[in-house]
Amino acid sequence: MGFTMGLNLLLLVAMVATNILSLYHLSSNTLHSSSTKPPTPPQVPDHLIRQLQTIRAAINHLTRHQPSNPTSTSSSSTIPDDLLLHSRLSPIGSSCHNHPDLLHRYMNYTPFSLCPHDTDLQETLILHGCQPLPRRRCFSRTPPKPTSALPLNPYPSSLPDSNLIWTHYDCKSFSCLNHQNPLLGFDPSRESTSSFMHIRSELDLPVPQLLQIAKAATSPIRLGLDIGGATGSFAARLKLYNITVLTTTMNLGAPYSEAAALRGLVPLHVPLQQRLPVFDGVLDLVRCGHAVNRWIPVTMMEFLFFDVDRVLRAGGYLWLDHFFSKRSDLDKVYGPLIGKLGYKKVKWAMVDKPNSKNGEVYLTALLQKPVSK
Ligand SMILES: *[C@@H]1O[C@H](CO)[C@@H](O)[C@H](O)[C@H]1NC(C)=O
Repeated sequence: MGFTMGLNLLLLVAMVATNILSLYHLSSNTLHSSSTKPPTPPQVPDHLIRQLQTIRAAINHLTRHQPSNPTSTSSSSTIPDDLLLHSRLSPIGSSCHNHPDLLHRYMNYTPFSLCPHDTDLQETLILHGCQPLPRRRCFSRTPPKPTSALPLNPYPSSLPDSNLIWTHYDCKSFSCLNHQNPLLGFDPSRESTSSFMHIRSELDLPVPQLLQIAKAATSPIRLGLDIGGATGSFAARLKLYNITVLTTTMNLGAPYSEAAALRGLVPLHVPLQQRLPVFDGVLDLVRCGHAVNRWIPVTMMEFLFFDVDRVLRAGGYLWLDHFFSKRSDLDKVYGPLIGKLGYKKVKWAMVDKPNSKNGEVYLTALLQKPVSK
């Protein structure tokens, strides 16, 4: 079990690593300065102020709204801290302008003809915070000979190779992906009886037990979101219970989004740093799998958890599934961070990572959102 879990984790970490690295790159100044002393107006770099002024000017122009006090934009002290932080941590439209070379390549297409093969470029732009990407007026490519026989259940014996464009992936078939690594989720039939159904350690929370807990608390689960859910394994399980789960996933090196869609599951092409594209207080459940772990900068994780809080309804559940960190960090950093939410601890299980020299642990926590005060 330890080996399988370790391998699985390693792969998922690899999958999100690019994402996190770009985040680190974007956020490192903020984190360093804020860890020593709180940001003060003189520390705000000029380019950031200019950028924010450009955004304000653009917003004012678009809304034909004139600032009541035009001089206020020239003073850095009027810029809210959170906006400064977000302009580096999280996407706001201007992030596209920070990568003019990439953006130029992306927008360099022939209007009204076929779009270029540039999936990798799109992933890169999104991971750099250019999200949502600008719209284009070109025709999206389709696979040349798609089969009309699409699977109707989320655990088909195989996924049809002919229904996606393989050009930008190393593998050219699902069997190649499965051969490279059977645990990536590209062989749904492997998951049909086992995934989210067994208790191998106290870190596991099988779906029947999860639903029983929710039912007993008269807080039924009907709508959920799985953050970093790869090929939709969790959504697939819940679909069998007629529960709708959206899966956020990126296509880092493999067709995760297409695979989820071929299983009849909704993939949301959303990086970890993006505000969840769901309205406030509407979800019964949010699951954070391996993609959410200690590689994410802490400030960024805090924004993520508070965004999860935003989309959960009162009585809804946040499930941290095999959250991976050092035990000391869990005690000093992540535990208090999770505590800030003020959620009820329905389940809290911590287990040492097998053979870990650095005191690493896994945490599985099921937390229930209270009614707000
Ligand atoms: C899901 O919905 C279908 C169609 O309404 C129904 O036949 C089936 O029993 C439901 N499954 C569960 C587990 O509720």
